[in-house]
Amino acid sequence: MTPVTDREAWRPEAILGGLVVLRRHRNENLRAFQSWYSDPEVARLTRYQPGPLSAEEIQRFFYDRIMGSDFLAMAIHVRESNRLIGTCAFSQLDGDNGSTLFHITIGERDAWGHGYGSEATELMVAHAFTRLTLHRVALTVFEFNVRAIRTYEKCGFAVEGRARGAIFRDGRFWDEIHMSILASEWEARQKEP
Ligand SMILES: CC(C)(COP(=O)(O)OP(=O)(O)OC[C@H]1O[C@@H](n2cnc3c(N)ncnc32)[C@H](O)[C@@H]1OP(=O)(O)O)[C@@H](O)C(=O)NCCC(=O)NCCS
Repeated sequence: MTPVTDREAWRPEAILGGLVVLRRHRNENLRAFQSWYSDPEVARLTRYQPGPLSAEEIQRFFYDRIMGSDFLAMAIHVRESNRLIGTCAFSQLDGDNGSTLFHITIGERDAWGHGYGSEATELMVAHAFTRLTLHRVALTVFEFNVRAIRTYEKCGFAVEGRARGAIFRDGRFWDEIHMSILASEWEARQKEP
């Protein structure tokens, strides 16, 4: 396995798709993060804790994680308009085992359901298995987040397990679903007609 040492590979300037462009985050994107992560519906779909992050927590998350060196975080822009609609990232890059954890949030609600999340996920997974030469991309998603699960399935992720009753939301317990895609599965998908 080739180690990930090349800065351009780890954090490219841009990754171009048909619908979206993934770009490096800039300091001014903090304003959008403040809006996305204070949305109760985004919090419901993404957080273990009830309710959204505070403004201070969002700022810390943005500078420590999103702009930090442990995350490969990319801003999601609509290609046609360059509108900033969300963020996606790899965390927990494990070079010894060639694996990482994927995260995605389209924070602009009116941008849900237009195919942007699927394409951003496809672009990041392709980046992981080509430029980063990883072996495995994993993620977790709450059982009730059917749009996200469908998106990941469309991109080739398979359910590999569930943490039963791990999240209490809307008055009941739900499973946290663990999904992953391996390089060999991704390569097989590239050969499909
Ligand atoms: C999850 C997310 C990334 C998906 O991106 P998106 O651009 O909205 O999704 P897409 O349009 O690419 O694809 C959504 C798919 O889910 C399907 N879908 C939407 N609502 C659905 C529902 N209630 N039940 C089943 N499928 C559903 C759509 O039909 C589409 O599948 P299709 O192309 O086969 O028709 C985005 O909605 C998001 O960021 N949501 C808020 C935060 C979040 O949930 N993040 C993930 C945390 S694990």
